[in-house]
Amino acid sequence: MTNARQFARKREAEYSLFQQLNPEVMADPYPLYRKLREFEPVHWDPFMHSWVVTSYAECVAVLSKYKAARTPAPEYLEAMGLSVLAPYAAMMLKQIMFQDPPVHAGMRAMCAIAFTPKRIESLRQSAEAMAKGLIDRIVDRGGRMDVVADFAVPFPSLFLTAMMGLPASDSSQLKQWAADVAELIGNFEHDPDRIQKLVTSLEQLRVYLTEKVIEQRARPCDGVLSALLAAEIEGVRLSEEEIVANAVLICSGALEEPANLISCGMFSLLQRPEALAQLREHPEIAQTAVEELLRFESPTQHTGRLAPEDVVLGGKQIRKGDLVTAVVAAANRDPLRFHEPDRLDLTRADNRHLAFGWASHYCLGAPLARMTGQAAFTALLRRLPSLALITKEPQWRGMAALRGIVSLEVEFDRKLAETVQTERTYVQ
Ligand code: HEM
Repeated sequence: MTNARQFARKREAEYSLFQQLNPEVMADPYPLYRKLREFEPVHWDPFMHSWVVTSYAECVAVLSKYKAARTPAPEYLEAMGLSVLAPYAAMMLKQIMFQDPPVHAGMRAMCAIAFTPKRIESLRQSAEAMAKGLIDRIVDRGGRMDVVADFAVPFPSLFLTAMMGLPASDSSQLKQWAADVAELIGNFEHDPDRIQKLVTSLEQLRVYLTEKVIEQRARPCDGVLSALLAAEIEGVRLSEEEIVANAVLICSGALEEPANLISCGMFSLLQRPEALAQLREHPEIAQTAVEELLRFESPTQHTGRLAPEDVVLGGKQIRKGDLVTAVVAAANRDPLRFHEPDRLDLTRADNRHLAFGWASHYCLGAPLARMTGQAAFTALLRRLPSLALITKEPQWRGMAALRGIVSLEVEFDRKLAETVQTERTYVQ
């Protein structure tokens, strides 16, 4: 290789999103995103075989107009040596996230029937009670906790079972399956030793949900699964396969990202004592605070689309069918859109971030995620007034598209936590 080609290759590697797999970049991907945005906000990444988009306006254009139907064909998987993923690809064909108009609108409208504002409001009290119950157990055990294992992961999994109408005793198993499914979809590269295990978990989750669909068809209950079974628009209903495929999507969305919002959000707050105190003293700002934590450390870092036709984006000629990666976490730090984007401002007013996506595929669970996020941060800060970090440099989850922490040890004053509990019981 000539020097010039070597130099070009090195530069391509330096500006590749693959850098995310480097532990230093994984710990703080924002300098890489900034470098990319300042170099070329729409950039061809030969390692990703994709255009990588890091500016807000262009990400919005991609999410609004490009095709979501990006399920890999069986021949493509075979050529890549990834035939093991064929069952996952078959399921994607039935999930709303990978549909385009007109199929998407009909399927989404039916799924949305299960997420009415009334259902979300009726789940608020359960969410608050679950958060409180988990914290009671933490306080009983002593003055130390792992935010991830003791709260951020079990809270959404308990909530998911209540929301779906599934037995609470299944929450640990669901959590494990969902973590494997997240690893399957959240990575660029797959460890060949793990991939079979991940696909097996997906299959087990599919079989489990199919059984529950059959059960709830016979005995409907007041949960999302039964609501999906009953959903009907102009005589059309979702097929059993569609219900199961979308229930898999809902389970992974409702477990993985909310857990990451809580753990990354708590880490951001604990690193900034002023912000932590502000939210503790003013729980009424929980709404804007959760939006800001979503913008600041977006649980979904990027998502893919296909160019619908030959098109120019950010001055680059993109060909029909090219893969385009919208890095929403980079767009959420774009200074052309957000004032002082690298500053955590819990009362930020102008905050139309892309953490839940944009346009027709905007997160179906966003109102639920907001509600549970507010319940989680409020309960943690109110009950544990003297929280402090033990883990200073956490290990990150190692998934490029989903940002999460493996473990986050914190300590708190147990006596103070017990006093808060007593006071609350007295007031109630
Ligand atoms: C903090 C929590 C969450 C975050 C950050 C998040 C993020 C996202 C993002 C970015 C998208 C759009 C993906 C794309 O355009 O390619 C999405 C879609 C979706 N999310 Fe979420 N999500 C969260 C929670 C949830 C919850 C709790 C549920 C279910 C109860 C859920 C279910 C879905 C579904 C079904 C879609 C597909 C919508 C469609 O394609 O029309 N998500 N989510």
